[in-house]
Amino acid sequence: MDESLRVCDVEKYYGTKNNITKAVNQVSFTVEKGEFTGIMGPSGSGKTTLLNLLSTIDRVTAGHIYYGDTDITELDEPTGALDSRSAQMLLNTFCRMNEELGATILMVTHDAFSASYCKRILFLKDGGIFNELIRGRKSRREFLNEILDVLALTGGDSNYVK
Ligand SMILES: Nc1ncnc2c1ncn2[C@@H]1O[C@H](COP(=O)(O)OP(=O)(O)OP(=O)(O)O)[C@@H](O)[C@H]1O
Ligand SMILES: [Mg+2]
Repeated sequence: MDESLRVCDVEKYYGTKNNITKAVNQVSFTVEKGEFTGIMGPSGSGKTTLLNLLSTIDRVTAGHIYYGDTDITELDEPTGALDSRSAQMLLNTFCRMNEELGATILMVTHDAFSASYCKRILFLKDGGIFNELIRGRKSRREFLNEILDVLALTGGDSNYVK
């Protein structure tokens, strides 16, 4: 991305008047150029819905998403179908793209190990952002432990953790 991505008060509702699911509920965040940010959250927390909104596959019910003139079709769940060795190679490639080329990466994952490669993690729950972790100067192992702590506290997807 050439520009930062700005997500402003985005909401996505599914269903009818009498039976509404707030799949994404009042979500706001910014991803600056060069960041490597993860989005985590239990099943049903709105990750896929959010990605579909960011990639314009789906339309927001309310709110705004601003980005530059870049095509965002690359956003997906990149390691989902890979074996662990290929996934690790891809994650290392993401790190190098981020650090050496200044590429902006936004990745959705269930997997704490994959997430530990990110520099920031946003945690979704019930359609909203409920926590944020910044890696800072911590080692990847320390960051992984922090991520696992958040997942454990929130009853997150421990069954997805390798
Ligand atoms: N097309 C749809 N019609 C109705 N409800 C939907 C639709 N897509 C998603 N939802 C609902 O919106 C909420 C968020 O779903 P979403 O698929 O975004 O979660 P997710 O975080 O990607 O989950 P998972 O980790 O299982 O992939 C859930 O309650 C889901 O049932
Ligand atoms: Mg999903």
